[in-house]
Amino acid sequence: MHILITGGAGFIGSHVIRHFLATYPGYRVINLDSLTYAGNLNNLRDLESMPDYRFVKGDITDAEFLINLFSEYCFDGVIHLAAESHVDRSIADPTAFVKTNVLGTVNLLNAARSSWKGKYDGKRFYHISTDEVYGSLGKDGLFTEETPYDPHSPYSASKAASDHFVRAYHDTYGLPTVISNCSNNYGAYQFPEKLIPLFINNIRLGKPLPVYGKGENIRDWLWVVDHAQAIDVIFHRGKTGETYNIGGHNEWTNIDLIRLLCCIMDRKLGREAGESAKLITYVTDRAGHDLRYAIDSSKLQRELGWVPSITFEEGLEETVDWYLGNQEWLDNVTSGSYMHYYEEMYGSR
Ligand code: NAD
Ligand code: TYD
Repeated sequence: MHILITGGAGFIGSHVIRHFLATYPGYRVINLDSLTYAGNLNNLRDLESMPDYRFVKGDITDAEFLINLFSEYCFDGVIHLAAESHVDRSIADPTAFVKTNVLGTVNLLNAARSSWKGKYDGKRFYHISTDEVYGSLGKDGLFTEETPYDPHSPYSASKAASDHFVRAYHDTYGLPTVISNCSNNYGAYQFPEKLIPLFINNIRLGKPLPVYGKGENIRDWLWVVDHAQAIDVIFHRGKTGETYNIGGHNEWTNIDLIRLLCCIMDRKLGREAGESAKLITYVTDRAGHDLRYAIDSSKLQRELGWVPSITFEEGLEETVDWYLGNQEWLDNVTSGSYMHYYEEMYGSR
């Protein structure tokens, strides 16, 4: 089995590669990543010398490069994670999201289609997407696979467009595709622009914790290792042409989550209880900020038997331990261009 994993140097991709190499000896995994600010080969240091793993630096917006790559390797499967992934960056520069998330996905679909030439037996194109394509929920209800798309941010609009293209290639050309839409992930190796690693880093450094609006927005958090496990079962046993929602049944308002994180950090850093929470600073809300995401993952649980393995409290403890045990990783990724981004977003505090 030859698998192409795109975006493998990013947060979720690095966990997926680690999971596949550990679980399926004999699979050959090619990691294609252009190494944007979010891509970091340090996320895969422990895998570099494995004979069945290979890193290829390349950009999915380059159609010709992809055609050549597919003819060189004859992939059996594609797991497509490469994307621009941060909502705030999409508000600042939507075009980069259209290029990578929409055009890049269409380039990959074309390369798979032209390489497989209608011989689809044993082939699979798996597109990794987000629950954000469904828009925002009110106080009640859950996103199911039938919920109509209603994206609000340039990020979610670009992911929605890419999902539509994947479905169109299945319906029009018979390409053997499958899609999953997952809720917010957390865990090791996440770039500290996303809420949890950003706040762990700021608490460690005694910097303000910028809570958007009143902190009342709700997200459904899933441990990234459980997402990688779900990707495994969907890749191997998901039905062609289908969509699967992935989520942890784990809804938190941002402010409750932040308070829990502050408590854990006080304990781990040996600070007085309440010390970290003093850093909470309410700032201007994000434009178009979706109120609530919550996933109904019963289809995945019922049909493929996947369930999350740990509670949020356990996962968050483990995540904090990882960042505090890998402060060099944090220092490396938060130097250089990160500081420029940080100043643009939050000022020089
Ligand atoms: P990430 O930003 O950490 O990683 C993205 C990776 O893609 C990086 O390694 C980057 O270098 C690479 N990349 C970006 N543009 C590229 C290009 N043009 N060509 C090749 N490589 C490129 O993102 P993530 O959080 O790991 O998310 C991975 C996927 O999962 C994305 O498709 C995202 O939409 C989806 N997703 C993420 C979450 C989440 O909570 N993080 C939830 C649901 C779905
Ligand atoms: P984020 O991690 O960016 O994920 P997403 O926007 O894809 O859900 O943000 C999670 C929630 O935290 C979201 O409601 C926005 C909020 N947030 C803040 O309040 N402050 C911040 O500095 C960041 C990055 C996010």
